[in-house]
Amino acid sequence: MATSATTASNTWINTKLASSSYSSPFKDLSLNSNSNSITLNKKNSTSKNRISCSLQTTLPFPKQYQPKPKPKPTTTTTTIIPTKETKPNPPPSETKPKQQQKNQKWNLFQKAAATALDFVETTLITQERKHPLPKTADPRVQISGNFAPVPEHPVTHSLPVTGKIPKCIDGVYLRNGANPHYEPVAGHHFFDGDGMVHAVKFTNGSVSYSCRFTETHRLAQEKALGRPVFPKAIGELHGHSGIARLMLYYARSLFNLVDGSHGMGVANAGLVYFNNRLLAMSEDDIPYQIRVTPNGDLTTVCRYDFNNQLKSTMIAHPKVDPIDNNLYALSYDVIQKPYLKYFRFDSNGVKSPDVEIPLAEPTMMHDFAITENFVVVPDQQVVFKLGEMIRGGSPVVYNKEKVSRFGVLPKNAKDSSDMKWIDAPDCFCFHLWNAWEEKENDEVVVIGSCMTPADSIFNECEESLKSVLSEIRLNLKTGKSTRRAIIDESQHVNLEAGMVNKNKLGRKTQFAYLALAETWPKVSGFAKVDLFSGQVNKYLYGDQRFGGEPLFLPTLDSNSGREDDGYILTFVHDEKEWKSELQIVNAITLKLEASIKLPSRVPYGFHGTFIHSNDLKKQA
Ligand SMILES: [Fe+2]
Repeated sequence: MATSATTASNTWINTKLASSSYSSPFKDLSLNSNSNSITLNKKNSTSKNRISCSLQTTLPFPKQYQPKPKPKPTTTTTTIIPTKETKPNPPPSETKPKQQQKNQKWNLFQKAAATALDFVETTLITQERKHPLPKTADPRVQISGNFAPVPEHPVTHSLPVTGKIPKCIDGVYLRNGANPHYEPVAGHHFFDGDGMVHAVKFTNGSVSYSCRFTETHRLAQEKALGRPVFPKAIGELHGHSGIARLMLYYARSLFNLVDGSHGMGVANAGLVYFNNRLLAMSEDDIPYQIRVTPNGDLTTVCRYDFNNQLKSTMIAHPKVDPIDNNLYALSYDVIQKPYLKYFRFDSNGVKSPDVEIPLAEPTMMHDFAITENFVVVPDQQVVFKLGEMIRGGSPVVYNKEKVSRFGVLPKNAKDSSDMKWIDAPDCFCFHLWNAWEEKENDEVVVIGSCMTPADSIFNECEESLKSVLSEIRLNLKTGKSTRRAIIDESQHVNLEAGMVNKNKLGRKTQFAYLALAETWPKVSGFAKVDLFSGQVNKYLYGDQRFGGEPLFLPTLDSNSGREDDGYILTFVHDEKEWKSELQIVNAITLKLEASIKLPSRVPYGFHGTFIHSNDLKKQA
């Protein structure tokens, strides 16, 4: 979701007045379904005292609840705040918004407003607690067990190692994840948590670990207030209570009690090292720059707009081309046109002009792909309809009338006139693992995991989620597509979160390394999949041991010529022992080379990267 130029990450509010076109039980609210906005109408309103707001969501790695016994509907809150480590699934407890704000230099008027709005929030929470939350918004489901947050961990050195760390693993492994700093007071989806980066640094055979929150503007303000105040994009913004939450936020903004003008993103999804900067990203904001300190700790440098070049949000899966070292990216907006923009940065970090890509409606676009000459853009059936909130539903909607399609655009396009759209019916890929050109066939081949039901990550659904590793062929000559499952149906496994050899991104690859999301949403191992033959080799973590995204680290300066010459790095958590480790697995043999015992628990998370020590030396 992107925004206008001056409010890069803050599309929650749209200051235009929208005319009332729908009458709701909220008498002062109206819906303008065309503009996808909701308006607070005050009596005798002027343009200054009308508030229109819009939705922004954060959509990183997919997670879906597993059926659990229904909780008693008398309480709504969760579980865990990351002040000290706890065992899994502690009993839910009542939480109330704290009335006291920390060290705020507010005038009397602001203090009165804060008190009044806190009262409104307390009333809202009381009302919300009368109804059970959907599982996709119930924190007791969403952040239970090892999905629960942890506190920061200062760097610890000389970690115990079992086995032998390959010499080529010299640098730092980093992984992002959602880790709510404050205990949720209402709905919470796993994707809503504050960004936390975990770092395992390898220095001359010695290993250190640390984890730190990314100090977003949002988190900094909540820390100052001592409580969560920003709306949670997925867990809270559905139905009428979601509208009320938005209104509450905007009322606080009007009184300058909170400030979303410098971004409201959580930076919890992706990580990329580009042009000597480590960037933590979520698609609802521009990136945050993180610095790895020489001793293996992490600090947040700033909200990084590429030296004033980036004026809109950026998705959390930009692609670094291994040949030209450019960074390719998209930005999408759930409110206003253009709903989608494409841009790139050259290897020196100089941004290209935006290419506006016309879409009929705002569409969720978590990921995309690159080839040697093209970017491949998925325009799929999960769309944003803010008006659904007025009707009591989620604004993230599966549009069954829409035909999914892929757009193929030259990387160096100046505008979208050369975009070739090719329909791919009923295809929803949350992530795309790779794409390449087969010029002999006039085809672009896309490798992704096709999910059904498409919106089940966000909306409660009885049907269990299925994620099928698929090859989608886009014929640029005929404008037709074909799709096939890469793995035989009899051997189907849900595969999500992973990658190909990054040195071959955008080029034909034989292997993909993907998380075995079995039983969803937990990850019981990873699979090395031969994309040509469909052969699957599994590496399982063992009884009650689960992980996340496997990172494939190519062997530096390998002379083998093998695409799979490298190592898989992945965090593994033992739910019996309640301990976490980092495993290093040989990607050719799938044998465990080394495991590093970590000094604290690492929650299941999202995406990671590795920075070699040579690159780290050049860190900005
Ligand atoms: Fe993702």
